[in-house]
Amino acid sequence: MRKSDVRIFDNLEGLSLEAAELFTEAASRRTAQGRTFTAALSGGTTPQRLFHLLASAPFLERIAWSNAHLFQVDERAVPVDDPQSNYRMIREALLDRLSGSGLEFHRMQAERRDLEAAADDYAAELRQVPGPGDGGFPRLDLVLLGMGPDGHTASLFPGSAGLDEQARWVIPNYVEKFKMYRLTLTFAVINAAEQIVFMVAGADKAEALRGVLGTPSAFGPQPGSDPVPARRIQPANGRLTWLLDREAARLL
Ligand code: 6PG
Repeated sequence: MRKSDVRIFDNLEGLSLEAAELFTEAASRRTAQGRTFTAALSGGTTPQRLFHLLASAPFLERIAWSNAHLFQVDERAVPVDDPQSNYRMIREALLDRLSGSGLEFHRMQAERRDLEAAADDYAAELRQVPGPGDGGFPRLDLVLLGMGPDGHTASLFPGSAGLDEQARWVIPNYVEKFKMYRLTLTFAVINAAEQIVFMVAGADKAEALRGVLGTPSAFGPQPGSDPVPARRIQPANGRLTWLLDREAARLL
């Protein structure tokens, strides 16, 4: 695994601007080769500013949106217009400003009653992503991740069954602390990516971040048994970059 790249910014604005540059560079690299750019977006609150930046000058014009396919990293099992919906956040912050751009957005249908079928259908959509990455998994050009105060990432929460999935690409995962299901990409798909960028901001993440970046994992060659989900993000053949604000990084 290549060494992680950790970049610390004064605030969320600085972190988001750097993320917008990395996203734009990744997209330009791929489309300059005449190929489709593929990326998976996390939900939550941290990436909202990034999405606004990508949908505004100067980033808006620098990205060949008609050659891009965007996917979701995870989604809550709620209706699409629910305030908890990651799709709703991404639509309001980004997609609504890109109508007519030719961008292909692949929505996780986590509102469906049959989440197993929804997961399998989404895996079928991921087959459009050129691969294979390691182990025959789709090799996304870029995966944008967040991290919770408990060290979860995507919808892979500590102690949840989804942590152990090694074959499937997309799974339903029950999250005890929220008493709800989610759909999520698995570690295998995330770790097959060309580039993974974590965006972590806020004092409430500092403790978890010390656990992930500040202490060497005791699980050495067996990251697959690490109880801290974010520490299992170790791209087999890709780049891992952490974009932090000062508050989140204060214990490093
Ligand atoms: C989700 C996200 C999740 C998120 C973290 C951080 O559906 O909640 O995908 O993994 O990235 O929970 O969330 P914040 O950015 O809101 O702190």
